[in-house]
Amino acid sequence: MTAIPANSRLRYHSQLRQGADERREETHPLTWRLHDDGSRIGLDEYRQKNGYAGAEKALAMDPADVIEAMKTANVRGRGGGGFSAGVKWSLTQVGENLPRGYTVCNADEMEPGTFKDRMLMEQQPHLLIEGMIIAGHANRSKYGYIFLRGEYVEAARSLAIAIEEAREAGLLGDNVAGSGFDFNIALHTGAGRYICGEETALINSLEGKRANPRAKPPFPGQSGAWGKPTVVNNVETLCNAPAVMQHGADWYQALSGDLSGDGGTKLYGVSGLVNKPGLWELPIGTSGWDIMERAGGMREGHTLKTWLPGGGSTGFLLPEHLELALDFDTVGQYGSRLGTGLLTVVSQRQSLVGLLRNLEQFFARESCGWCTPCRDGLHWTAKILQAIEHGEGRPGDIELLQEHAQNIGPGLTFCAHAPGAAMPLESAIRHFRADFEAGIVKKEVEGVTAAADGADTAAANEEVS
Ligand SMILES: Cc1cc2nc3c(=O)[nH]c(=O)nc-3n(C[C@H](O)[C@H](O)[C@H](O)COP(=O)(O)O)c2cc1C
Ligand code: SF4
Repeated sequence: MTAIPANSRLRYHSQLRQGADERREETHPLTWRLHDDGSRIGLDEYRQKNGYAGAEKALAMDPADVIEAMKTANVRGRGGGGFSAGVKWSLTQVGENLPRGYTVCNADEMEPGTFKDRMLMEQQPHLLIEGMIIAGHANRSKYGYIFLRGEYVEAARSLAIAIEEAREAGLLGDNVAGSGFDFNIALHTGAGRYICGEETALINSLEGKRANPRAKPPFPGQSGAWGKPTVVNNVETLCNAPAVMQHGADWYQALSGDLSGDGGTKLYGVSGLVNKPGLWELPIGTSGWDIMERAGGMREGHTLKTWLPGGGSTGFLLPEHLELALDFDTVGQYGSRLGTGLLTVVSQRQSLVGLLRNLEQFFARESCGWCTPCRDGLHWTAKILQAIEHGEGRPGDIELLQEHAQNIGPGLTFCAHAPGAAMPLESAIRHFRADFEAGIVKKEVEGVTAAADGADTAAANEEVS
């Protein structure tokens, strides 16, 4: 495994758009160490740049104090839900004489339009390992697992080397860094299913079972992998823990300044027809405008029609919503979710119905099939959208789509996959009903015009891919 030089150039190059001159330890805890050429940071360099200082501090602390620091820092889950990491960690401590359990890193990253965890794992794998040691200590875990999306071959390679380096240096295994705490990490590559990102489906998959979500309660904090207390956190969430430990909760919370009540920075990104798609580490609560400006605005010939703030399972927003602070609570007030914080922009020249059809086909294909509204409803939804996209929608189809969105909404299915699919559907119809109406009317009234419009949007879609 270690035949590959630790700092060999990656096939996949960094899409971080901030140069080394802009990134500072005081302001960019996730990315300040990264190289401009995107090459991987090995253990020696990571340690020279204060690597594992946060873990060493945490290992000398009582787990309850580590949890308290995470709560005060207000690190909210970067996997999309925004749940407080400190509160989640405190839930493994409820009850007497609980057995030691597991710390699981959710590295499935299959949310459409999301590519932030990939960069962290490929280029700075030791930051994640350090975050997992801190989480493992706080949760009294005996073992850590990284559940990695199967297609992330480069990340697998980078993590495997880093785990080996950490073991050889005594940072993993028995008596981590002489602290008396035993902790090891195993890398588990998945087979590429979106539902494996849902934390309880992930646990089933880890146990070798079919990846169906589990009923909650019990929550993983009480009974997770192999029935033991288990914490599941996103890659970016865990990567924030070292800085909280090293610099303190107040320092971390203050990174977002007046922009947000949430603490720290966030990896924001943009994909679609912009001039400079990529990633930026910015204070959480940075506005959409600021992020779009960094992405160089829309490409020539394109104007912004709508955007998804954080992946395919978030709701469409309008150009005026770019002025919002992109944090969990603010975006939630406008019928969407911050999700992963990676914006997908849609040009006026793209077919919104076509884009939505594509998304819903993805959600239909990735349904685990456990509950009927999701298993059958999503395929039906995609079929209706396909008809509308081709100008063959029937009167009543829009109302039917709205009914579908309601039937798969929160609380009506076994897990959040179907409500995630409902969000872009419901919001697209709410904001752009005319686009859907055009697909119904055209066949009956304007057959020729439909073909002409189709050629223009097909060209725009081609540009994106
Ligand atoms: C269908 C579905 C897919 C998900 N995929 C991911 C994923 O790829 N990565 C992730 O971190 N969280 C994903 N989540 C959220 C996880 O269930 C869980 O909330 C998250 O890993 C918790 O980590 P956090 O608190 O650090 O955000 C997904 C949720 C659902 C319903
Ligand atoms: S909502 Fe969909 S993915 Fe979730 S349990 Fe039901 S069928 Fe499976």
